[in-house]
Amino acid sequence: MAENTKTAKLTIDGKEYELPIHSPSAGPDVIDIRKLYAQAGVFTYDPGFTSTASCDSTITFIDGDKGELLHRGYPIDQLASKSHFLEVAFTLLYGYLPSADELEKFESLVTNHTMIHEQMHYFFRGFRRDAHPMATMVGVVGAMSAFYHDSTDINDQHQREVASIRLIAKMPTIAAMAYKYSIGQPFVYPRNDLDYASNFLHMCFAVPAEEYQVNPILARAMDRIFTLHADHEQNASTSTVRLASSSGANPFACIAAGIACLWGPAHGGANQACLEMLREIGTVDRIPEYIARAKDKSDPFRLMGFGHRVYKNFDPRAKVMKESADEVLALLGIENNPTLQVAKELERIALEDPYFAEKKLYPNVDFYSGIILDAMGFPTSMFTPIFALARTVGWISQWKEQLADPQLKIGRPRQLYLGDTARDYVNIEDR
Ligand code: CMC
Repeated sequence: MAENTKTAKLTIDGKEYELPIHSPSAGPDVIDIRKLYAQAGVFTYDPGFTSTASCDSTITFIDGDKGELLHRGYPIDQLASKSHFLEVAFTLLYGYLPSADELEKFESLVTNHTMIHEQMHYFFRGFRRDAHPMATMVGVVGAMSAFYHDSTDINDQHQREVASIRLIAKMPTIAAMAYKYSIGQPFVYPRNDLDYASNFLHMCFAVPAEEYQVNPILARAMDRIFTLHADHEQNASTSTVRLASSSGANPFACIAAGIACLWGPAHGGANQACLEMLREIGTVDRIPEYIARAKDKSDPFRLMGFGHRVYKNFDPRAKVMKESADEVLALLGIENNPTLQVAKELERIALEDPYFAEKKLYPNVDFYSGIILDAMGFPTSMFTPIFALARTVGWISQWKEQLADPQLKIGRPRQLYLGDTARDYVNIEDR
């Protein structure tokens, strides 16, 4: 952490406390309150962590006002157009763009870990066929700790590395198997002659009975979806992974916790919820009704795919995703798809509406990703598993960074207690 030269002063009951201020390489200064309780006997209060930096990190930077997202300093739009998912994965994990040789070795390492232990197939069979693929993924990824004992020791750097590669390599296999299981088709084994995205599409859409050729444009769009979701700083699921890991839990358990958190509709579940909302709206003439509902404080309805905790001008991922959506729909010849018509009109109306402008609500990445995934043939229930498989590298990078931090402490937030103070137990006959 950089040497601090600035301080903040806090006065409580006339007594003054000096708090160090840390200046980051980018972003707002951070007031260090770590010794506040010991010195002043008070906690800070910040539900939802809207003003709290929970760690220091060198991986991802977001400037929500500028609509900027950097991975290890590289802008997301450059990575999405010039790089590809496994190169971005390497960069997130190790902090720099790989040389050609390093990239080849990394890709070969990931590719050679794509199969899962054969015994794990039985886990899938234990689930109901109609289980949500996210439910299956939480279970199967957590269960990896029961299989890969040789990579659960978090104090062994080699084991940490092996667990990282295993998770990145096997997540597409697990997501595809969850999908195949849910539609009653045989599992399709990974193909190591295919790139990461093509292999995933093949495992999802091929059947043993016939040849399946992956369309390279769809593979590129899939890869871009993975790239755009690879990491996103200290969001809810990443913070969940870090919190789980702070207790010393094994990597598979931590990533399962991240998947569980991602599932919620305010986070990764928004892509599914968004497409379902677009379908529910159905036709453009019904959009005003939904806009009115989104503005009505007595109605819990929100426009899914709109708004972001950090981005308050635009979501840079959404910009790239929108271009990708146009490309994929043109390729498939479905530009006039009714869901897309509703999406385009909803976007136009919402962006012109003062309510959304005042609250700085713009379409986020999930607004467009669902449209592409739908066009590719994925059911809505697979949208969040795809997000999870892409985000795994971000979770792993943050997990590794946290474990390498000599200041690592178990995460233990405090509270503003508003309940009853100590009172005597009353025997049941006296109540
Ligand atoms: N539709 C209508 N109103 C909204 C929406 C929305 N999608 N999002 C926020 N608002 C309003 C909200 O009612 C509040 O109004 P008021 O100030 O009058 O009470 C104001 O905007 C601020 O909302 P907030 O809940 O305090 O904002 P937040 O930063 O806590 O929430 C969010 C961010 C993403 C959870 C929220 O915008 C939301 O629920 N969006 C829909 C779900 C969604 O698309 N999530 C995906 C996020 S991007 C992918 C990811 O990173 O996971």
